[in-house]
Amino acid sequence: MPFNVFVTRHLTSDAEEKLNAFCQAEFWHKETPPPYEVLLEKTKKVDGLICLLTDPIDRHLIQEAENLKVISQVAVGVDNIDLEAASDRGIPVGHTPDLLTDATADLTFALILAAARRLGEAVDYAREGRWQTWGLTTLLGEDVHGAALGIIGMGRIGRAVARRARGFDMQILYHSRSRALEIEGELGAVYLPLPELLKQSDILTLHVPLTEETEGLIGTSQFERMKPHAILINTARGAVVDTDALVTALKRGQIGYAGLDVTDPEPLPPDHALYTLPNALILPHIGSATRTARNNIALLAVDNLIAGLQGQPLPKAVQ
Ligand code: DGY
Repeated sequence: MPFNVFVTRHLTSDAEEKLNAFCQAEFWHKETPPPYEVLLEKTKKVDGLICLLTDPIDRHLIQEAENLKVISQVAVGVDNIDLEAASDRGIPVGHTPDLLTDATADLTFALILAAARRLGEAVDYAREGRWQTWGLTTLLGEDVHGAALGIIGMGRIGRAVARRARGFDMQILYHSRSRALEIEGELGAVYLPLPELLKQSDILTLHVPLTEETEGLIGTSQFERMKPHAILINTARGAVVDTDALVTALKRGQIGYAGLDVTDPEPLPPDHALYTLPNALILPHIGSATRTARNNIALLAVDNLIAGLQGQPLPKAVQ
């Protein structure tokens, strides 16, 4: 009997081909995630699950899935999965680190530049016919070169951002769970306690996973410590930032700008206050969205799944 697998969305054609050659896979055909009840029903019967960060894989679902041998997430972040529940049942969980690091760091830098130089506003200004002359003080932004870049979370993506920052002659400051001594040596990065990092950074960029400790890490009291021209960049998870506090900080000019690839909630509803603010630039969670990165992570998710079904160690298991 071949293994049965449920996949909560279509993958790339390479990944689907590899998966179909190994098992009996059912794909959720819609662009939006399967409703929870459907996910529950489908998962109950299968040996393996490939899921995305939009699928709530909670304790109830994991307990109900009697035959489940492996959960394979097509993303590095796994905050949508109850890892403890999976571990209680001895079900390995795979994810896709490394292969999206550079794509996400590139997008982080795109957001840094776009926010600092107000590219969203500038595009609208030209397109809407407001461009009548060259103005000495039109659409002034902030320097990126030479600015103090504060990185929260010096993991794989934080480091890749730091390496890019060196090319812009930025001063690299960071706060992380543990010291990254090789990055301090290689790039002259300076470790600071969080309050000091907030105070000194011109641009603050977040690269921590969403956990109980990091949820709401940046809120009212953190915004109060930041420079009035500071730029907040978030390509990690929306809930690391307190959204209401961010709206207030942007409105009051407590900080200068926000460039967000992730939001809380996600997707951000079209009538959300953040869209009304000229100093907020919002992207629809496209950090790893390059053809190569997405194909590679889909293939790795299939490899994780196949290993799990065969009872072998996953190439990339969540620690
Ligand atoms: C991840 O992998 O966790 C990203 O957010 C998806 O790009």
